[in-house]
Amino acid sequence: METKRVNIAEAADLLRNKEVVAFPTETVYGLGADATSDEAVAKIFAAKGRPSDNPLIVHVGAMEQLCSVVSDICDSAQKLMDAFWPGPLTIVLPKHASLSEQVTVGLPSVGVRMPSHPIALELLRTVNLPIAAPSANVSGRPSPTKAEHVAEDLDGKIAGIIAGGEAEIGLESTVIDCTVEPPVILRPGAVTRAQMEAVIGPIAMAESGKDVEATPKSPGMKYTHYAPRAPLTIVKGSEAFFRAIIAEARAKGQTVGILVTEEHAETYAADVILTCGTREDVSSVAKGLYDALRAFDRFHVDVIYSESFEATGVGEAVMNRLQKASGYRVIEEQ
Ligand code: TXA
Ligand code: MG
Repeated sequence: METKRVNIAEAADLLRNKEVVAFPTETVYGLGADATSDEAVAKIFAAKGRPSDNPLIVHVGAMEQLCSVVSDICDSAQKLMDAFWPGPLTIVLPKHASLSEQVTVGLPSVGVRMPSHPIALELLRTVNLPIAAPSANVSGRPSPTKAEHVAEDLDGKIAGIIAGGEAEIGLESTVIDCTVEPPVILRPGAVTRAQMEAVIGPIAMAESGKDVEATPKSPGMKYTHYAPRAPLTIVKGSEAFFRAIIAEARAKGQTVGILVTEEHAETYAADVILTCGTREDVSSVAKGLYDALRAFDRFHVDVIYSESFEATGVGEAVMNRLQKASGYRVIEEQ
């Protein structure tokens, strides 16, 4: 059964009736529900198959709405909001008592964000409720950057989808925990560490990697994420090294998919070659990454090899998602 495509007014009505609706944001599509209602929030977890200990972030359309979501806004948080909202930054703060316990899954804190996408903002302002919204994908799959991705995962499972074209950024928001001093980045995103340090001074970075996923600061860190169906491996090294890796897999009879930037569209021979963005602008890689990861599932490849990027600026977010998608499988030229 197909989920109905709805406009902003229809979506707002559905949200008021405690239904779940997918809507575009500048980062990825979100799956929204009334954050003050246990019943509505439970539908998000059900539709996504989301583990019940992974908290949701809450979206607001105006600063006035914050007072029913968080109980305190520290200096650094205020400065970050002034500098980066509306925009791709989620700030973790002490939670307000009125919020559904289902949103924070019992944590004393809550992540909040004011998105900048005009449809998201208008929806939030029309419905005038804080809206809990994780990415609108089935848990574990790459986040949706197009309405079609949402439909691929959630058609028939949710009440409505607002179609709003391709997400401009393509990766989820930066998450920063401001309940600790210095604040800690829990998830890198389009708002970079350097940009935030210019506003509030030194910030720490939560460690990432396979080992810390066992005892994460942010519950979302421990789950498999963004993974295409075939195993993905990140390759670090020269073109000759990449060629040798592909050749080795093909010699074993494997169908090989590769993920490269436009510059390398014709550099390698593989069964399926998908490009995402250009090396000149790592934001373009961020924008196309999830679409490419999803596309591999249509080609039935046995293995996927991806190029690697420098983990600075937005490249840090790109590498963070690629590493998670690969389950931290990296082959490095010696
Ligand atoms: O860009 C985004 O942030 C998108 C769009 C829809 O706004 N939303 C999104 O939500 O990515 P989600 O639920 O897929 O990711 C939220 C992340 C998760 O890793 C979760 O564990 C973490 O934020 N998080 C939420 N509340 C938290 C809290 N109180 N403390 C620590 N981490 C928290
Ligand atoms: Mg997600």
